[in-house]
Amino acid sequence: MKIFLDTANLDEIREIYDWGILDGVTTNPSLIAKNGGDFIQTVYDIAELVQGPVSAEVIAQDTDGMVREGRLLARVHEHIVVKVPLTTQGLGAVRQLADDGIKTNVTLCFQPVQALLAAKAGATYISPFVGRVDDIAWGGDELIEQICSIYGNYMELDTQVLAASIRHPQHVVQAALAGADVATIPYGVMKKLLDHPLTDIGNEKFLKDWSTVPDTDIEGQVTRWLESR
Ligand code: E4P
Repeated sequence: MKIFLDTANLDEIREIYDWGILDGVTTNPSLIAKNGGDFIQTVYDIAELVQGPVSAEVIAQDTDGMVREGRLLARVHEHIVVKVPLTTQGLGAVRQLADDGIKTNVTLCFQPVQALLAAKAGATYISPFVGRVDDIAWGGDELIEQICSIYGNYMELDTQVLAASIRHPQHVVQAALAGADVATIPYGVMKKLLDHPLTDIGNEKFLKDWSTVPDTDIEGQVTRWLESR
């Protein structure tokens, strides 16, 4: 499963990029507004840093406007993926952008038939909103499972399932178990993915025990050993 960071904050992206596991970034108008700064410069800087897909969302609500904005956004950087809302107008825009060879991320998906239509329109990614579905007492995990099953039934549908609106590590587990192609994860959740008290306790114990051996310098030991051969 690919891992995207769900943020417009470059400091957060730089930190997670250094982990060596980051495949891309998603933004949306709310994240751009929260981050402040210039929209286009921000997504360009993110795309330069990440060297992977970076979703940037259109604001127009009519098909022609979305296509115009999408074509312009795609010119900002080769990694830009045009994010389009899952409306009837959005579907038409996705079809035209796909015909132009422009990648799209169809956002605000809350039920599996919407995902089927987005795939038929030629979406590169479909973004089911796991957390917001859980918020209304349905199952975000079920939504991802059903979309993955439907896409799996039809070889001609090559849209990737991008689990979005992730609120906690269990959502990441659910996305991976269901076979999602991508999970886009907020910075705070990403940090929690690594947390485990037994990892910390175990690491401390190993270091404490190691401090009792006569020579604790591994680099020195290996260098001397290699030179002696
Ligand atoms: C990303 O592509 C989505 O816009 C984002 O995950 C939505 O998350 P939220 O439901 O927490 O706002």
